[in-house]
Amino acid sequence: KVKGLKDYYQAYFPIGVAVNPRMVNEGAESSFIVQQFSSLTPENSMKMGPIHPQENVYNWEASDKMVAFAQQNGLKVRGHNLCWHNQTPAWFFKKDNRVVTKEELLARLKAHIFEVVKHYQGKIYVWDVVNEAVPDTGLSMYRKSKFYEIIGEEYIAKAFEYAHEADPNALLFYNDYNTESKAKREKIYQLLKGLKQKGVPIHGVGLQAHWSIDEPTQSELEESITKFASLGLKIQITELDISVYPKEHERRERRENDGVGIFTDEMEQKQIQQYKMVFDVFRKHKQNITSVTFWNLSDQYSWLDNFPVTGRKDFPLLFDKNLKPKKAFWEVVKF
Ligand code: G3I
Repeated sequence: KVKGLKDYYQAYFPIGVAVNPRMVNEGAESSFIVQQFSSLTPENSMKMGPIHPQENVYNWEASDKMVAFAQQNGLKVRGHNLCWHNQTPAWFFKKDNRVVTKEELLARLKAHIFEVVKHYQGKIYVWDVVNEAVPDTGLSMYRKSKFYEIIGEEYIAKAFEYAHEADPNALLFYNDYNTESKAKREKIYQLLKGLKQKGVPIHGVGLQAHWSIDEPTQSELEESITKFASLGLKIQITELDISVYPKEHERRERRENDGVGIFTDEMEQKQIQQYKMVFDVFRKHKQNITSVTFWNLSDQYSWLDNFPVTGRKDFPLLFDKNLKPKKAFWEVVKF
């Protein structure tokens, strides 16, 4: 029997992967998922737009399929996500050709969260309840999303309260990226501290971990983990990938992108070091880290192939396009 990532990490935390429905059909990818992983997250299908395209209309098919696959094969499921500024359908904020009132939007948010959380009650053990509510820059603690503009900051607490009411056994997480950057980390910390102080039912924080070969540094990462853990919150790494492009490359790439990607030896060496560092840190902090999920399965496909520009090939994962473990894989399981 092949030893999978999840087996190496059995004494530490479940290892998850973001999937889409076609990956759980019969075939090489689905058996590979079962061999390597012990948790899965639907990459897109549980988001508000895909799952709730019109008022009172729910699309369960894609998500049900992945949840059933997980149950049949003994994988845990992370629910992603209940409230986000992105992939939210336009109807949600409109009524009779006007913008919804605060009360109407809260009622819609509650109806949405109740319907989705109850549908998967007992099958999804943890939900990303609010996703990316804090802006990267500026002084404001809150992203100026439609939820924020119409409801105000309390939409965040309300979303957690609704989710808790819908399924009191589910673990409820706040999920965000760039959680290692000092300014943003501080804002997220203040937000979460405030929620805890008000007695809002929040159990953890998801560090998305869309990283690159040059960030975060070990000290930035450890500082984030210890700081959030000091609030009594559990930590999950929810969307891990390590871009082979330096972060600073992102801006230049908008002009220089030639649509061709080559996984050079230099990229590979840097990526190996970064993967090794972050997994060393995860194991060191295993009392606080309760799950590590990769955002996509292999270098065959990644959302990063379309970010920051379409057609820039990236190689951010531990398996190559043929599902063969890369050198970074062997570093991560060597301890
Ligand atoms: O399904 C439609 C298809 O019908 C249509 O023809 C096509 C044309 O654009 O779009 C398809 O939808 C795309 C969808 O992925 C499914 O492939 C959307 O355009 C595209 O925007 C969407 O991107 C997703 C992105 O979230 C949305 O912002 C990525 O796959 C997904 O990996 C990404 O995941 C997010 C996390 O949820 C939150 N954290 C950041 C992370 C990366 O951006």
